[in-house]
Amino acid sequence: MAKPYNSLSCLIITTFTLLQLIFPSQQVKITPPPLPILPLPNCAQLKWHQRELIMFFHFGVNTFTDREWGTGHENPAIFNPTRLDANQWVDTAVQAGVSLIILTAKHHDGFCLWPSKYTDHSVIRSPWKNGQGDVVQEFVNAAKARGVDVGLYLSPWDRHDKRYGNNKEYNEHYLAQLQELLNNYGDVKEIWFDGAKGSNAPNMTYYFDDWFAMVRELQSTINIFSDAGPGVRWVGNEDGFAGSTSWSTINRTLLSIGNSNADYLNSGDPKGTDWLPPECDVSIRKGWFWHKSQAPKNLSDLLEIYYKSVGRNCVLLLNVPPNKQGLISESDVQRLKEFRSAVDTIFSTNLATKCSIKASSKRGGKNGGFGPENVLDNDHLWTYWAPRDEDKDEHWIEFKAKDKPLRFNVVRIQEAIGLGQRIKGHEIYVDGMKIANGTTIGYKKLHRLEKGMLSGHSVRIKIIESRAIPLISSIGLHFDPFWNPNGQGDSGPF
Ligand SMILES: *[C@@H]1O[C@H](CO)[C@@H](O)[C@H](O)[C@H]1NC(C)=O
Ligand SMILES: *[C@@H]1O[C@H](CO)[C@@H](O)[C@H](O)[C@H]1NC(C)=O
Ligand SMILES: *[C@@H]1O[C@H](CO)[C@@H](O)[C@H](O)[C@H]1NC(C)=O
Ligand SMILES: *[C@@H]1O[C@H](CO)[C@@H](O)[C@H](O)[C@H]1NC(C)=O
Repeated sequence: MAKPYNSLSCLIITTFTLLQLIFPSQQVKITPPPLPILPLPNCAQLKWHQRELIMFFHFGVNTFTDREWGTGHENPAIFNPTRLDANQWVDTAVQAGVSLIILTAKHHDGFCLWPSKYTDHSVIRSPWKNGQGDVVQEFVNAAKARGVDVGLYLSPWDRHDKRYGNNKEYNEHYLAQLQELLNNYGDVKEIWFDGAKGSNAPNMTYYFDDWFAMVRELQSTINIFSDAGPGVRWVGNEDGFAGSTSWSTINRTLLSIGNSNADYLNSGDPKGTDWLPPECDVSIRKGWFWHKSQAPKNLSDLLEIYYKSVGRNCVLLLNVPPNKQGLISESDVQRLKEFRSAVDTIFSTNLATKCSIKASSKRGGKNGGFGPENVLDNDHLWTYWAPRDEDKDEHWIEFKAKDKPLRFNVVRIQEAIGLGQRIKGHEIYVDGMKIANGTTIGYKKLHRLEKGMLSGHSVRIKIIESRAIPLISSIGLHFDPFWNPNGQGDSGPF
């Protein structure tokens, strides 16, 4: 038995060796990805883009006084949430599809939701849990139990602390509190700084460079939010709307906290030297804090915000204020359920997956790994369609219905931002007719079509201008049953 087996192996090895001699350099040649175009997101920013939706909780003495900006003279005895349950807050966030939640550890009134060593204007002097409670700890514990990440807001402006206005003393005090928050509560993924300040507030200088350096020292994977970043920038308004042109790139040197040009923040800068993407903060209600007289925004307002934030290359930071009892009001919980269910309904079906697909060209040829089919997989960053470098003509990608016409009212396009934000202009055609156009794309661009529902056999997306060859990671053709601008009375995509 042994002998024939040996001679067979021998024959195979000999043949293989001979082949190697005849074709010495034959090996699989895999086309590498194209060069990136700077600036690029860092690892924490890339993770942040993918969250799409994060949640803010404004809670503190204002919740009990019906104010938006406290005076700093509130008696801590008014802070007495009778049923505070951070688990209910986080459950609400999870149901809304949120993976990061941010708490106002201290707002402008200076009242601290944790028992800070450096002040007695805090939960320590409140009747809540006989002064033994710690809202930040309960928030962190509830988040951790549900696998949700945590962020914190520590207001620079402090209307209670007597040191405010004295540069050295107040900056020392502020940094001490920052160290308490970033040392004692585990991982913090976002820290929120703003320049909000009343016109009569004492003048003082915040030592932002010291603050940022301290933050980075204590938390390695954190994103620092402010008007000027350095991790994430403000979008320039509190409506939740980014510009219809929205670059992740901007020149940080042109920004200053509390003092930036809102239009520049809103649109970013195609020539920007810094990757500093916009975050859209807006409240589900009119105010940031809970007020008995206010109600949550309706579904169509929330969807409008979604399309103008997430759909414009931003992350939406939606504020949902806990009430006097220390719970998210049932009306807000229900509205968020409706909102999540609407977003899931709209995007759960991608009509493009039923189409045949072709493109103007593809990098690396037939098996190069950069074909247009990559825009239909579930990876929205690292698999993408890339045209050939040499291709100087227009770049396009086209979907053709195999039988019945496509009926849709939303087009989703995503760039492979891991290699830079590139696209400067694009157009969408249905059966040869231009139906929409826009400028840059970024992580995600949603076109909710002004014409409403369209029907056609072919959809072509043309990239008309870009900083380098365009890289498209995902495309979707969707039907939004809540979008009916012309009262068409359409009932569905089929
Ligand atoms: C702050 O400084 C500016 C200019 O330096 C001055 O106009 C303003 O009156 C000052 N405000 C207060 C409250 O001192
Ligand atoms: C941003 O910086 C780049 C590079 O220096 C420059 O080309 C561009 O003009 C700047 N943008 C603005 C608005 O000044
Ligand atoms: C939603 O609320 C807005 C005001 O914020 C109002 O203009 C709009 O008509 C409402 N939409 C619906 C469908 O109720
Ligand atoms: C869309 O196309 C129109 C007509 O060509 C043009 O005027 C407009 O500037 C374009 N819009 C964008 C955002 O590119």
